[in-house]
Amino acid sequence: QVVKLRPASKESDEKGTRVRVLGRVHRLRSQKDVIFVTLYDGYGFLQCVLTGTLTKTFDALTLTQETSMDIRGEMCEVPPKQHAPDNRELHADYFEVIGKAAGAEEAITTRVAPDADPQTFLDNRHLVIRGETASSVLKVRAAVLRAFRQAYVETRLTEVSPPCMVQTQVEGGATLFSFDYYGEQAYLTQSSQLYLETCLPSLGDVFCVAPSFRAEKSLTRRHLSEYTHIEAELDFITFDDLLNHLETVMCRVIDLVLADPEAAKAIQHLNPDFRAPQRPFLRMRYSDAIDWLREHDIPNEEGEPHKFGDDIAEAAERKMTDIINRPIFLTHFPVEIKAFYMQKERADPRVTESVDCLMPGVGEIVGGSMRIWDYEELLQAYKREGIDPASYYWYIDQRKYGTSPHGGYGLGLERFLAWLCNRWTVRECCLYPRFAGRCKP
Ligand code: 4AD
Ligand code: MG
Repeated sequence: QVVKLRPASKESDEKGTRVRVLGRVHRLRSQKDVIFVTLYDGYGFLQCVLTGTLTKTFDALTLTQETSMDIRGEMCEVPPKQHAPDNRELHADYFEVIGKAAGAEEAITTRVAPDADPQTFLDNRHLVIRGETASSVLKVRAAVLRAFRQAYVETRLTEVSPPCMVQTQVEGGATLFSFDYYGEQAYLTQSSQLYLETCLPSLGDVFCVAPSFRAEKSLTRRHLSEYTHIEAELDFITFDDLLNHLETVMCRVIDLVLADPEAAKAIQHLNPDFRAPQRPFLRMRYSDAIDWLREHDIPNEEGEPHKFGDDIAEAAERKMTDIINRPIFLTHFPVEIKAFYMQKERADPRVTESVDCLMPGVGEIVGGSMRIWDYEELLQAYKREGIDPASYYWYIDQRKYGTSPHGGYGLGLERFLAWLCNRWTVRECCLYPRFAGRCKP
């Protein structure tokens, strides 16, 4: 019986059973007449004990980390005072090397020398992901994706798959990746929002999980040039409905992830202090945030006190979230610093019905808004931004054929994970990060 090393149940129900495990050497410890091999197979870890003649073979004497093996034997409890993953071990009576790993400790394995240059880690990401930390993050990532899909099913959103090759910008021309599309100019999508909006009449509320692309020139720890964007769009809603939905979905996702034993264990390992956030999230208007930043002597990008109309830059935003230390819905940003499609607030048309969700340690992880739903107003907005509306005819048509108040948001999966798993950078939260200067492996 080949077994996958799923975390064992508390009662050692495997005790005494004969098993066969297939995996790679995670850790190796040789003593006189005993070799302890910790095998990993992507599901878990198992300590295997080789004794007697098994330790004398050429393969045993030349065993290296990362070598793939077939080991058979009997599951046993770990003797008192000894440690082994999940408190179990396999006493081997047979083993076979399947693929020897070259270079032993020198090989760039899961333990790429801790003081190695960051470029070395990035160049060897294909090996780094074998490590416990990187693979834990990837497991949490998979659980988060499952949880979002479940939370959306529960709130009756339908999943759609919009195109990545497009001819319109959503979040400003400065970060567009353009390419030649059979002789026409096209772009890699910055956001699927505009396409989601067009789905509302036929499908009701919708969501997608799709890559978004941004030609970000600056290297920061929270910007990628390709990231996974979880976006949702809701029809016939108010701005308050949007905020409530967002809070409900985020909290539900966290509950679902923490209820998943494998993900919960990984989060415990990566971020032992993690606590699910309390509802309601703090709601703060942009204008109040400006006052708050002035009161706390946190300057704007020019080094001056913040004033109405300023962008709240990454550093200031991060300081604010770290001091307040709980999720914040920052709302009602000025029209000038937000995208063309955002609905203005009725009571104060200088500002938009927009929201950024800020998390301690990361800052903005979600951006959303109500959308302009009046035809003339949308055309005005294009004019104000100097955008030629021609290529947006399909988006504008939405306002011609049965328009409706609607809104939505986009959440950066890697930023959500950086917060949940307490990672220094979003680069640790995706399989193969892409950012300025890096497109490999
Ligand atoms: O705030 P953004 O630019 O909003 C939009 O794209 C909207 N059209 C979304 C919508 O309403 N459907 O991006 C949304 C989120 C950000 O809050 C951030 O989490 C993430 O996408 N994001 C990035 N993540 C990693 N690298 C980048 N370069 C990112 N740019 C945005
Ligand atoms: Mg934003």
